[in-house]
Amino acid sequence: MTVETGGKLQGRLILLGVTGSIAAYKSAELARALIAEGADVQVLMSHTAQQFIGPLTLQTLTRRRPMTDPLELLPDQRIAHIVAADSADLILVAPATANWLGSMAAGLAGDVITVTCLASTAPVVVAPAMDGDMYAHPATNANVAKLASWGYSIVEPGSGPLASGAIGRGRLAEPAAILDAVHRALEGRPIRQPDPALRPPVLVPEPTADLAGWHVVITAGGTAEPIDPVRYIGNRSTGKMGVAIAEAALARGADVTLIHGMTSVALPEEANLVSAPTAAQMREAVLAAVADTDALVMAAAVADFRPRAIADTKIARGAAGLTLELEPTSDILAEAVSVARQSARNLVIVGFAAETGSLVRARDKATRKGVDLLVANDVAEAGSGFGTDTNRVTLVVPGGDDEEWPLMSKRQVADRLWDRVITARAARSKSGAQLAAT
Ligand code: CTP
Repeated sequence: MTVETGGKLQGRLILLGVTGSIAAYKSAELARALIAEGADVQVLMSHTAQQFIGPLTLQTLTRRRPMTDPLELLPDQRIAHIVAADSADLILVAPATANWLGSMAAGLAGDVITVTCLASTAPVVVAPAMDGDMYAHPATNANVAKLASWGYSIVEPGSGPLASGAIGRGRLAEPAAILDAVHRALEGRPIRQPDPALRPPVLVPEPTADLAGWHVVITAGGTAEPIDPVRYIGNRSTGKMGVAIAEAALARGADVTLIHGMTSVALPEEANLVSAPTAAQMREAVLAAVADTDALVMAAAVADFRPRAIADTKIARGAAGLTLELEPTSDILAEAVSVARQSARNLVIVGFAAETGSLVRARDKATRKGVDLLVANDVAEAGSGFGTDTNRVTLVVPGGDDEEWPLMSKRQVADRLWDRVITARAARSKSGAQLAAT
C-alpha cells in the first residue's frame, strides 16, 4: 500500500478500535497510514481481535501498548480507557464486526472499544467488515442505522471476494476511503488534548539527545562481601533501577560508565561496564571515575559492613555455630561528594535511599551526604523496591521541595530523574558563574 504523507493528522490522537474479523490484519496498515499522516495512534482491541492479529505488531507500529481490557489501569493508576476517551481526537473502529455493531447499538460496555466510545465525546468513524449475508441482515442494518443516527460516520464495506470464498458486500473499505472519512470527521475541530502527559503514555519516550557530550557514572546492583571463598554477605538488589538509569542516559546520548556489583538483569553493552562486586572495589571504581564525570548516580545497594577477616578456605560446619566480626565499609557516596566538591567540575551527584516505612530518614540522609538530589523509596511497599519493574519514589531536593512521584515504570523514573539532573546542573553552573562574578 502506498501512503500519502500529507501530515493532515499532525498532532491528532486517533484511537484505532480493532474487533474480531479476519480483516483485523488490515488494521496494521491502517495504523501505519494514520501515523504517516502525523497522527499519534492508540490501539484498542477486543479479545477476539487478538486472535487475528498480535498486539505486539500494533504496539511496535504505534509505540503504545494496545488497550485490551476495560479494567486496565495505566502505570500511574489512571483508568486507561478514560484517559483515551478524554484525550482522543477521533475513534476509528476498523474492522467493526456484526457483534461489535450490536453491542455498541445496545450501549453495552463489555469490551474496551464500546466502553471507550461510551465514555468519549470524540467523533467516531466505523468501518464494518463481515460476511455479505451478515451485513445484509436487518439486525445489522438496524444497528448500523442506529450508530449513524448518533452521528457516527459509517464507511460502507466494499464488494468482492470474502473470507468464506463467496462474493458479496462485506469487505473492509479501502484504507483511502477510511482515511477520507477520518479527515471529514475531523474537519474544523481543534486538537483536543495536545498535552502528551494527558494522553495514553508512549512506551519509550522520544529519544532526545539532551545528554549528548555528558559523561555519566552510574552504580547498580548489590555488593557481595566475602566470608570465605564460597560465601558472601549480600543483599536483594537486582540492579534493575540502576540499569534503567544507564539505559535512559544512553538513549539520551550520554557516554555511560556503569559500575556494577551483583546484578540479575542484562547489562547494556553500549555502556563502559566496570565490575565491582565488593564495597571496596566499588569505592575504588567510583573514586577513579568521579574526576571525569558530569553526573554520578549511586543506585547501588552497597554493604555497610563486611567481615573483618576473609577465611582462605571454606569454613567448615561446626557444632558451636559461627560468629562473624563485621567492620564498617566506607561511605562511598559521602567520599565522592567531598572529592567532587574540591574539584572545579560542575558535577551533579544523586544518591538513593532504600527505606522501610517512613521516608523521614531520607531527608536527613540527603543533607548529611551533601548530594544534589536523593531518590528515596520505601522498599517494603508493593510495586516498589527490589526486583519490581515499577517504583514509587520521592525525590528529595535539599533546600527545595520534595517531589512525590506516582507509581511509574523504572524506565520512566529514570527519565524523569535525568530531567531533574539536567536542571540541577544548569542551576549549579548559574550559581558557579554568579560566585565567579562577585
Ligand atoms: N552508599 C555508599 N556507600 C555505602 C553505603 C551506601 O555510597 N557504604 C550509598 C548508596 O549507594 C546510596 C546511598 O549511599 O546511594 C544511601 O544508601 P543507604 O543504604 O540507604 O544509606 P546508608 O548510608 O547505608 O545509611 P543507613 O544505613 O543509615 O540507612
